[in-house]
Amino acid sequence: MPTLTVDLGDRSYPIHIGPGLLDRAELIVPHLAQKRVMVVTNTTVAPLYLARLTATLERAGVAVANVVLPDGEAYKNWETLNLVFDALLAGRAERKTTLVALGGGVIGDMTGFAAACYQRGVPFVQIPTTLLSQVDSSVGGKTGINHPLGKNMIGAFYQPRAVLADTDTLRTLPARELSAGLAEVIKYGLIWDAEFLAWLEANMAKLRTLDPAAISHAIHRSCEIKAQVVAQDEREGGLRAILNLGHTFGHAIESAMGYGNWLHGEAVAAGMVLAAAASQRLGWLGEAEVAHTRAIVRAAGLPDVAPELPFDTWLEYMGHDKKVEGGKLRFVLLKRLGEAVITGDVPEAALRDVLIP
Ligand code: NAD
Ligand code: GLY
Repeated sequence: MPTLTVDLGDRSYPIHIGPGLLDRAELIVPHLAQKRVMVVTNTTVAPLYLARLTATLERAGVAVANVVLPDGEAYKNWETLNLVFDALLAGRAERKTTLVALGGGVIGDMTGFAAACYQRGVPFVQIPTTLLSQVDSSVGGKTGINHPLGKNMIGAFYQPRAVLADTDTLRTLPARELSAGLAEVIKYGLIWDAEFLAWLEANMAKLRTLDPAAISHAIHRSCEIKAQVVAQDEREGGLRAILNLGHTFGHAIESAMGYGNWLHGEAVAAGMVLAAAASQRLGWLGEAEVAHTRAIVRAAGLPDVAPELPFDTWLEYMGHDKKVEGGKLRFVLLKRLGEAVITGDVPEAALRDVLIP
């Protein structure tokens, strides 16, 4: 079983990747401050995996409570977060009670934020069950909720004690959600590793049918890149922003279209194609590289065209991006395939050309 470490000094933590991890209490118990947890999950994941995880932990002598939230990006908000606090208080959870996130990125982001806030901070463990959450959201400590005006605008940096990515859970994931996860995998190739990008292209069919060796390599390499970036820049003073390739456009799509209508990974995919097109306008990518980016996105079963939105709507939603500085939009673009750059110098005319073709 491959294990990686996110190297953050005394807050370092392991990422375990492999099949059957839901049965491995020994990967969780050492990270608990007391033998008591609250599992946070949702109405889709609970019937699939909650009983199994509960049995694993109870066999190891852990007292397990749970809270089952409604499912969906549209519920990643204050009202749903408050259900977690209600359950924690009603169950008299203590400062050493660990929160365990069992689900995709929505559950992981909300559980992490709840853990950061409850009694000013309790431990938490991530058990991601979507490809997207296994390659991205469970690692690195970004937690939070959406606001109607802006995606993930309220939250905290708060690291988990451990991440367990059980690759068996991907077998129940709908194909559309698997593709959404591949968007973030492609992102790592585009921003960091051209060789990995080429490997992804060659292995896309295997990835889409969950070939065990291929999917395990894709998750491992993605987490390795993310862990390396997070270890260098945990709180996004600079470098970490490259993990947001396509996200300025993507977050605007998600907010403008109504949360949940475009999946996060789908919006990021279309956003990465826009970022490639903007990189071409700035003279960094050629036409062939933009076409190449588009082809990889399509091969993963993802949209390569953004929805039609008025230019002012784009500007309104992109203006609520966390990279905005002094009121100025900043974008993650590509110097070449495999190398990202962060820039505030995208002329409005170029942006308009890219967004309103
Ligand atoms: P999600 O959490 O909504 O999960 C997708 C769907 O799959 C949901 O309906 C969920 O219930 C279901 N599901 C989960 N596991 C399943 C399984 N094993 N079998 C069947 N169904 C399953 O979406 P996501 O794509 O996992 O995550 C997207 C969220 O992650 C967004 O809110 C995004 O902003 C956030 N995100 C955060 C970070 C970060 O660094 N914190 C990074 C990337 C994305
Ligand atoms: N997904 C972007 C980040 O973790 O920084």
